Amino acid sequence: MLSINWVALLYLLASILIVFSLKGLSSPASARRGNTYGMLGMGIAVLVTLQLSNVQNYMWIFVCIGIGGTIGAIAARKVPMTHMPQTVAFMHSLVGLAAVLIAVSAFANPTAYGIADASGVLHTASRIELFLGTFIGAITFTASLIAFGKLHGFISGNPLVFKGQHHLNLVLGIAMLSFGAWFCVNPTWLPFLLMLSIALVLGVLLIVPIGGADMPVIVSMLNSYSGWAAAGIGFTLNNHMLIVAGALVGSSGAILSYIMCKAMNRSLFNVLLGGFGGDAPAAAAGGVKKDRPVTSGAAEDAAFMLQNARSVVIVPGYGLAVARAQHALKEMVEALTHAGVKVRFAIHPVAGRMPGHMNVLLAEADVPYDIVHEMDEINPEFADTDIALVIGANDVTNPAAKNDPSSPIYGMPILEVAKARNILIIKRSLSAGYAGLDNDLFYMDKTMMIFDDAKKACEKIVQSLD
Ligand code: TAP
Repeated sequence: MLSINWVALLYLLASILIVFSLKGLSSPASARRGNTYGMLGMGIAVLVTLQLSNVQNYMWIFVCIGIGGTIGAIAARKVPMTHMPQTVAFMHSLVGLAAVLIAVSAFANPTAYGIADASGVLHTASRIELFLGTFIGAITFTASLIAFGKLHGFISGNPLVFKGQHHLNLVLGIAMLSFGAWFCVNPTWLPFLLMLSIALVLGVLLIVPIGGADMPVIVSMLNSYSGWAAAGIGFTLNNHMLIVAGALVGSSGAILSYIMCKAMNRSLFNVLLGGFGGDAPAAAAGGVKKDRPVTSGAAEDAAFMLQNARSVVIVPGYGLAVARAQHALKEMVEALTHAGVKVRFAIHPVAGRMPGHMNVLLAEADVPYDIVHEMDEINPEFADTDIALVIGANDVTNPAAKNDPSSPIYGMPILEVAKARNILIIKRSLSAGYAGLDNDLFYMDKTMMIFDDAKKACEKIVQSLD
């Protein structure tokens, strides 16, 4: 067994590695390295924890690591990229559930966790820690399950809004905190279970009014919650490593949520209470209007235009992920670059269904990072671009966000595709995106629609270029 100094030193090393990991994950170019640091840090943390004197039954630990590790390894190989957002949401729910289960077992046997005095009465600080870990964990658990259901399509992505909803949430929030306070004064099962049940219900109620369009923000917010739940339980277990790692995840998730809200020009409060996005209400506010003339063409026409352009900016969106078109797209980029066309990518911060979704897809296809540009960087370039090629993106290019004060997305930053000299849009139909809104871009004189699956269209373009 390691001395206490060694444990502290190795936990510090693991914490530093996790900080480096977060730093690495902040850019696609260093993300792989960041991941390696994270795995190394977590590996050290787990090994050091396993040899602590209060870890007594290895059999159960290894059986659970075996089962969980096998499921994780299979899921990592089998889950398609398109299902990554819901997989992430599901994983957050597991962190929340773990926090609740640890809190229940710590409360059932506080002496085993060293959080009670000689007569078995919980320390005051431990009561507060248990209260915090339990309610944050419970809200994370059910909220993440609902987010998972919405993203996977088990539950409708439409916001479920009813009269008095916010008041109900407020009353439940106050009741939960009151039972928590009662638990802190008198730690018995009744206030604990009442607090836990209300937190589980609140998790559901907080997510049901949130529409599909806000899901990327919610995924990063739940990431933050799961970190705080882990940190809370770190206090219960008196494990510094868990406190540090949980706080890092909690704060980085909160910062990411803030950045994404800024990218959508909305406050987090507005996202949580707004109920924006989803087919029905949004469509009512401006869904696809029939009978507007559009110009459409074949992939071969697109290929001809692309190879005669000087500069092309590609705007990928959720449809690229659905079609798994990233490898065919990479081939197209290579062919165009070979033909002397300057090709760049424009990434909107909330394109797709989770933070960094498009960056992950392009990295998977080994697209060079130096041609991938963020929104603020590339927006001034569209006016001097021959062709903006939009592939499976919709909401993040919708000019209504700039031009139409009556649109629900008015004021949100978009990729300013409309300024390019020519626009090519690859998607299967004129259907709306996740926000359920029609897109004026489709009907512009300089736009040509290529109605096809993104992968098939990219393959056909590559063939024509050949
Ligand atoms: P979406 O707006 O959801 O559009 C994706 C498009 O991909 C759909 O219109 C769909 O059209 C197409 N598609 C689906 N499968 C396809 C396939 N196999 N091949 C080709 N196309 C396919 O996606 P996005 O542009 O990535 O933006 C989504 C995010 O924007 C949402 O998560 C939301 O948070 C956010 N949002 C941002 C704003 C801002 S900041 N302006 C406003 C609202 C929402 P078809 O069915 O016709 O193929």
